Amino acid sequence: MPYALREDEKLEEKVSLDILKRLFKYLKPFKKEVFIVLFFIFAVMVVDLLNPYFMKFAIDKFIKNKDGNGLILVGMLMVILNLISMISAKKRTQRMAKITHGILLNIRQDLYNHIQQLSFTFFDERPVGKILARIISDVNSLANLFNMSITNLVPDSITIIATLLIMFYLNAKLALYAMSTLPLLFIVLFSIQTISRKRWQIVRKKGSTLNAFTHENFSGIRVVKYFTAEKYRANIFSELAWDVRQAFVRAVRINDLFWPMVEFSWGIGTVITFYFGVKMINSGDISVGLLIAFTSYISMFWRPIMNLSNLYNNLVIGMASAERIFEIMDIKPNIKEEEDAIDMDIKGEIEFRNVSFSYDGKRKVLDKVSFKINPGEKVALVGHTGAGKSTIVNLLCRFYDPQEGEILIDGINIKKIKLESLRRQIAVMFQDTFLFSGSILENIKYGRLDATYDEVIETAKKVYAHDFISYMEKGYDTNINERGMRLSSGQRQIISLARTLIANPKIIILDEATASVDTYTERLLQMGIETLLKGRTSIIIAHRLSTVQSADRIIVIENGRILEMGNHEELMKKKGIYYHMFMSQFNYWEEKDKEIVS
Ligand SMILES: Nc1ncnc2c1ncn2[C@@H]1O[C@H](COP(=O)(O)OP(=O)(O)OP(=O)(O)O)[C@@H](O)[C@H]1O
Ligand SMILES: [Mg+2]
Repeated sequence: MPYALREDEKLEEKVSLDILKRLFKYLKPFKKEVFIVLFFIFAVMVVDLLNPYFMKFAIDKFIKNKDGNGLILVGMLMVILNLISMISAKKRTQRMAKITHGILLNIRQDLYNHIQQLSFTFFDERPVGKILARIISDVNSLANLFNMSITNLVPDSITIIATLLIMFYLNAKLALYAMSTLPLLFIVLFSIQTISRKRWQIVRKKGSTLNAFTHENFSGIRVVKYFTAEKYRANIFSELAWDVRQAFVRAVRINDLFWPMVEFSWGIGTVITFYFGVKMINSGDISVGLLIAFTSYISMFWRPIMNLSNLYNNLVIGMASAERIFEIMDIKPNIKEEEDAIDMDIKGEIEFRNVSFSYDGKRKVLDKVSFKINPGEKVALVGHTGAGKSTIVNLLCRFYDPQEGEILIDGINIKKIKLESLRRQIAVMFQDTFLFSGSILENIKYGRLDATYDEVIETAKKVYAHDFISYMEKGYDTNINERGMRLSSGQRQIISLARTLIANPKIIILDEATASVDTYTERLLQMGIETLLKGRTSIIIAHRLSTVQSADRIIVIENGRILEMGNHEELMKKKGIYYHMFMSQFNYWEEKDKEIVS
């Protein structure tokens, strides 16, 4: 199926030990908590270990000699100890949940912060849904790993060693019989895990693809419905969902081999021990109490092994997610600040010197572009679609770095300016304004987070937004995504004007900022924009050339090259590309007007 989302992400195989080490770095801040949990675990463990020994004691010493008082004493001691063990077990679970979710919180926060710093090239390469999958579900699937490693790994290992020691102390021969099946088990488990890990990685990839598809589907639900593509999309969805199911079933199938293997070895081991145990009782080598205690120890030996294989299993599953998380954490932002980058107050002079650029390193999108814009100047970029106008803007904001040439602001290479400083003072407005969910007030404040309420109102008034905002029932507190509160595209643009103005940028770029609004709104927008541009350097990109006539200078770009430069009159006189573009549009609008009149 020729379908882009279908492709799963590629992932390099990495050494798992490295990943484990990195994961367990996240435990560090919780050292103290972990020790407390280990203390509770230890309490439970000691009681568990002592129980069979008390039993042996009771049988061989008191029951055999019919000592009732002694029996009661031992019984009471066991009750008290087991009570302590129960309380400790409960505390352990509670504290552990706190630790695990604390760790997940930190990992998620790190991942989010990191991804937010990555350059556009990163986002160009993958759909949002796949990023979501890593931040939400991959991180979630680490919970088990941490939880079990602490609650199981340490105590289980200790239990195994302690049980072994006790068993060897009680009777070395019998102990050897009990563990005779162990080597075989290890070999089998090891081979299972290699396959299992791969399969879990496939599960996560497929899940991520499904996530991406779903996200895209509902972001573009309008298009889906307009073109009545629901059935088509639903088919793709069910295929992708089916893929996830398949992958999951395959992974679980191999996972389910773990436990039976352990149980099998456990069973055989016990039978062997019993067979030889009974023989040894008959020959008088051991007591009955010892064999009974031994049976308890056998299960105490095998249960943690079972737990550990389960932990291993979880480790394998978690590792698939951890790899995906660290893979992203290892991506460095392409756009980096130089170490001696400066904070600077921009005056607004812009210069491109022989700038060449390509998005993919193959096809040149800009070819030796040079121009200079003076502070306060209003420059228009015109050219056919795909000419490279928005690319110039992307480079100026340093969303990408050019392969050749340099970009200067006030005579300083923008690589030497702090990113924060640069982007704070350059504002870009697009046609499809993006507003966040939240109130109008909050949205305007994205321009400058510390703006006061009064400043917001004052700014809104300047761009003629105040009237229609106060006309709404909840005014500035109107929630933008609430039902029935959807703003028209013109209103959204006016709000984004306010958002831009409050940021007080030194350079303003309007990339097709005004289009598709009614004449009244356009008039409002135009007046708002005039306020906005006053005293600032501005770059205006527009297809309707009537809107750029008033620019101080017009730069005509075609195929990534500057072909003409000058003001409207000069370019018209020249009778070049601009002249032809203008005339054809002019005729078009003339025709339109005639149509409307007649
Ligand atoms: N993120 C990207 N990755 C790869 N190629 C891109 C990317 N963005 C744009 N391009 C390509 O670069 C070329 C210039 O695109 P650009 O967006 O600068 O054109 P434009 O002049 O702004 O066009 P329009 O008037 O349609 O907005 C186009 O051929 C486009 O396909
Ligand atoms: Mg563009």
